[in-house]
Amino acid sequence: MINVMIVFGTRPEAIKLLPIIKELEKRKETNPIVCITAQHREMLDQILTEFKITPHYDLNIMKNGQTLSEMTAKILTRLDGVIKEAKPDIILVHGDTTTTFVSSLVAYYNTIPIAHIEAGLRTYNKYAPYPEEMNRQMVSVLADLHFSPTVIAKNNLLQEHKNLNDIYVTGNTAIDALKLTVKQEKVLDDGKKILLLTTHRRENLGSSMKNIFRAIKRIAEEFKDEIKVIYPIHKNPIIRDIAKNVIADQENIEIIEPLDVIEFHNLINQSYLILTDSGGIQEEAPALGKPVLVLRNITERPEGIEAGTLKLVGTDEEKIYSETKKLLVNKEEYDKMSNSINPYGDGLASKRIVDTIIERFENRKN
Ligand code: UD1
Ligand code: UDP
Repeated sequence: MINVMIVFGTRPEAIKLLPIIKELEKRKETNPIVCITAQHREMLDQILTEFKITPHYDLNIMKNGQTLSEMTAKILTRLDGVIKEAKPDIILVHGDTTTTFVSSLVAYYNTIPIAHIEAGLRTYNKYAPYPEEMNRQMVSVLADLHFSPTVIAKNNLLQEHKNLNDIYVTGNTAIDALKLTVKQEKVLDDGKKILLLTTHRRENLGSSMKNIFRAIKRIAEEFKDEIKVIYPIHKNPIIRDIAKNVIADQENIEIIEPLDVIEFHNLINQSYLILTDSGGIQEEAPALGKPVLVLRNITERPEGIEAGTLKLVGTDEEKIYSETKKLLVNKEEYDKMSNSINPYGDGLASKRIVDTIIERFENRKN
């Protein structure tokens, strides 16, 4: 049996590791050990409950308003003891959060091999996204196995002189997750077009986020008979404060609590247009054929831009307003972006990842 410890802490890590945990549970060769840092609490527990995952270890680190350094220190010290007790053969991490980076560091300190899922995404801009760009670069330095979602990501790693034999292109497990969540039936609605909004990037907290909200408020007001904006708001109190000040009183903007992932994926499917600074949604929306205006100046997901489903609009109020309006009034522009193109694989990424881990261990034994 290979003891595979999976360490994660936030909503997107949980969603994209979920299909891998399920796959590890199915195989006779692997014993999954789930350790959560709980960098997110409610937004993580939502997923664990929904998919019946009971963690073996819970580091319970979340505290409102804590700094990146505090978070880092807590994960570092709390995870160390867990790894020493559980003695895993390999540790799996996903993506680019503080949990991802610090877990990899603790794994390295304990000389446990590290497999990095969603490896090789890059903007090469240290502060965008912040601190994710540095997190993923640092994880790539520490990792032994790199599971890249696309060839572009693999090529980034090759440019950084990673060993070709340790990089596997698997597709993104986000697509595997969609297979578990998206239902085809259409829910009855009130005929208004849904604009789905999410925001949470650290580099957008402050004036950028105010600009985003102001632009959306103008759109909501101008098209009040045709659209409704649905905004499942992140739990971060800083975001809630800004939203309260700028958009809370607009009738056709519904600010709601974070949706569970099944509801959210099906809401994407029913939306007309998405405005977001999220990473994961940039992968899901092209697969579902939904245009996305990306509220950032740069993205590590060029595949969706190439596919034509994503467009970078940054955080300038005028630009967001005019690009959103264009997609509401110009059908040709809208149709150009709403093709369902999926650059992120066939939904079998988790199977490939688990196959590879098993194979590498078998080869090591022989
Ligand atoms: C984190 C990740 C980011 C990822 C995002 C996904 C880092 C530095 N950032 O950002 O890469 O894109 O998660 O959503 O790793 N909070 C709650 N309950 C929750 C979750 C959050 O109350 O369930 C509040 C807490 O006050 C917390 C704050 O939100 O302090 C911010 O959470 P944090 O994990 O530090 O950063 P995110 O912006 O969520
Ligand atoms: N998501 C969700 N409920 C919500 C909003 C988002 O389940 O209310 C899902 C979304 O489908 C995607 C993931 O959360 O799979 C993205 O998380 P987030 O935007 O917080 O993080 P990022 O991907 O930017 O790291």
